[in-house]
Amino acid sequence: MKRLTVPAIRARKQAIAEGRGEPLVMLTAYTVRTAQLLDPHCDLLLVGDSLGQVIYGLPSTVPVTLQMMAAHGAAVVRGSYHALVVVDMPFGSYEASPRQAFESAAFLLKETGAAAVKLEGGEAMAETVAFLSDRGIPVMGHVGLTPQAVNALGGYGARGRSEAEAAKIVGDARAVAQAGAFAVVIEGVVEPIAIEITRAVGVPTIGIGASAQCDGQVLVAEDMLGLFERTPRFVKRYGDMAGFISDRAATYAGEVRDRSFPTAEQTYAPKA
Ligand code: KIV
Ligand code: NA
Repeated sequence: MKRLTVPAIRARKQAIAEGRGEPLVMLTAYTVRTAQLLDPHCDLLLVGDSLGQVIYGLPSTVPVTLQMMAAHGAAVVRGSYHALVVVDMPFGSYEASPRQAFESAAFLLKETGAAAVKLEGGEAMAETVAFLSDRGIPVMGHVGLTPQAVNALGGYGARGRSEAEAAKIVGDARAVAQAGAFAVVIEGVVEPIAIEITRAVGVPTIGIGASAQCDGQVLVAEDMLGLFERTPRFVKRYGDMAGFISDRAATYAGEVRDRSFPTAEQTYAPKA
């Protein structure tokens, strides 16, 4: 199976508009085995900087480093064959200048083999999005609730409840799309904003806590599978992996303690 390309993802916008395209399916993946299992079902795999909380127990995505993103990005590329892999640019690796962003993004693509990066921000990042796009690095935008800005935003509540904030978010999405982003994630906004953006921009919008009318959807896999404990309202739980794991760990612990594991089946007999 040939891996999906950036032009193929971008072209989905027109296909959807003409009624012959399905919404884009994206999930996060941080590890090789998760990537292998999710890959056949997804158009895009996102190596999200949400790995800071989900994998490393950090309080936010702010402390995540380029090295973490490179290591997990490489694992996800090794575990996937079909989906386009997008790697998040971590906080502090791109905001200072287009040149800083290019160096960080080039490092991530070289280290991982991924085809694209994602970065948070709107108008302030438009010049950077153009700089990377013009130099062979496809960029996915991310507007609305931008978790790397948690210290400025003061929390993770939905964005765009005031008219001014709504207009700012729509302007941000237009700016990054205009600058050459091949798709835009819209996170944690009141629904009319997501619909307006989806109508306004010429590239696919991928919603998370946004709208069913976006051109695609993304969730954090661990949230969707019921593995991670704190999940926002917009997460639908499709399973209870946390329950499964603790239940099986309890069974194993019981069998070790009462010596019913291991049995002859799991032990080596000496040669006859
Ligand atoms: O880091 C992440 O998982 C993300 C998605 C939730 C869009 O950026
Ligand atoms: Na992210």
